Amino acid sequence: AAIGSGTQGSGDHWSSRTAFVLASIGSAVGLGNLVRFPAEAGANGGAAFVLFYIFCVVLIGIPLLLSETLIGRHGQAAAPASYRKMAVESGASPKWEWVAGIGVFSSTLVLGFYCVLGGWVLYYIGIFAGDLVATGISGTAFQGMSVEAVEALFPALIGNGPLTVALDVAFLLITLAFVARGVSGGIEKAAVWLMPAFFVLMLGITIYGATGGHFIDAANYLFKFEPEKLTGPVMLAAVGQAFFSLSLGMACMVTYGAYVGRDVNLAKSSGIIAGSDTLVAMVAGLCIFPIVLAAGLAPEGGLGLMFQTLPHAFQDMPFGSLIGLLFFIMVAFAALTSSISLLEVPTAWLIDKFGLRRIAASVIVATAGLVLGVLSALSTGMLSWFHPLDFVPLFADKGVMDVLDIFTSRLTMPITALLTCIFIGWVADRRLVDSESGLGGGAHRVWRFLVRWVCPVALLAILWVGLTS
Ligand code: PHE
Repeated sequence: AAIGSGTQGSGDHWSSRTAFVLASIGSAVGLGNLVRFPAEAGANGGAAFVLFYIFCVVLIGIPLLLSETLIGRHGQAAAPASYRKMAVESGASPKWEWVAGIGVFSSTLVLGFYCVLGGWVLYYIGIFAGDLVATGISGTAFQGMSVEAVEALFPALIGNGPLTVALDVAFLLITLAFVARGVSGGIEKAAVWLMPAFFVLMLGITIYGATGGHFIDAANYLFKFEPEKLTGPVMLAAVGQAFFSLSLGMACMVTYGAYVGRDVNLAKSSGIIAGSDTLVAMVAGLCIFPIVLAAGLAPEGGLGLMFQTLPHAFQDMPFGSLIGLLFFIMVAFAALTSSISLLEVPTAWLIDKFGLRRIAASVIVATAGLVLGVLSALSTGMLSWFHPLDFVPLFADKGVMDVLDIFTSRLTMPITALLTCIFIGWVADRRLVDSESGLGGGAHRVWRFLVRWVCPVALLAILWVGLTS
């Protein structure tokens, strides 16, 4: 496809537009949608939060998604080389490649702790699978166990260093198995099989949960309109969440964009990807809360919602162990297609920059992810005393996992995203950007205005609040 792109790239491409869209949805839909969004929306103003979130996705998320995929598609190369190509062709400094370099760095860091969380999900798959074998298909989960014992599984897990490390390694190896096989041979296969399976599971579990009679309560909880809860910090949490959820600011969508052919309309694809991601975040709430409420539990926020409250809720349900198993398989599929995209970003860069073979490149990145992962996995247990950046106020009293999370979500992701907007809106050659965007007339002017003005201001606000609070 990429006639005359002039850059080497890995040459590998998506085999169709659907493959690109599904892989990008796979990257976007992950633990952010399933764990964080429902917990935050429920606790922070319900419909007011949801509406504001949608507002952020439309005004900031989609414009940035289009900017990132466009840079990649034009460059047809790993993220740094793609920024460089566009910069040079626009008569700007090749140093713009550093913006993507920060993104490559961030995705490596996130890969490190994301696979630890993926490992936790594998643990619950194992628990429910064992339960299913023990009690049969219609059994409720955790028979004969007290509520305290079920909820104690989670602290016991994250405090168990060898186990969390082993699970982290397992999740990382599964991720590696797909990335090592290439774009159309591996990454795309994961997306094309796992994402449809994910949608079916999610729909099925949501319908099942609704039969428990608490669907309306859950919708009321998730969509109750409480504008007074929409404070400044909550609004910024919503923008940040929109960002993370759409996999922006990590050179990820640039990398996926580089495998797209000329015939694909990027504006339309960006809309579909962002729309699906947002829809999944909302359905996740309607999937989880009815189950939690049916068990008479309080829908508390944070990680406890998925890893403690929900297992406990499955304890009281008919077919609890089966549904619990399917639920965590669904979460694992979502997390896996995200970790695959995280591993692909630095892998593509190594291939592009040093001419490495894909297998070697992906193993090197996975090894870096392993080191960070081991430190993260242990940071909730035996290494919890280790606070590597204790002397920086932002990271005081934080273990490795939190440091990686805060460093990327508050610092490097917003910086990459901010500079990307400036690059596309102010630096890059306008005709070049226009011809890639696939937008016409009015829509194009709106997009350009958002990228030049609205996104940078919002990102500066995120950075400011993230670093000062
Ligand atoms: N979007 C993913 C999620 O919601 C996480 C992610 C961020 C993946 C950035 C890739 C890049 O879980």
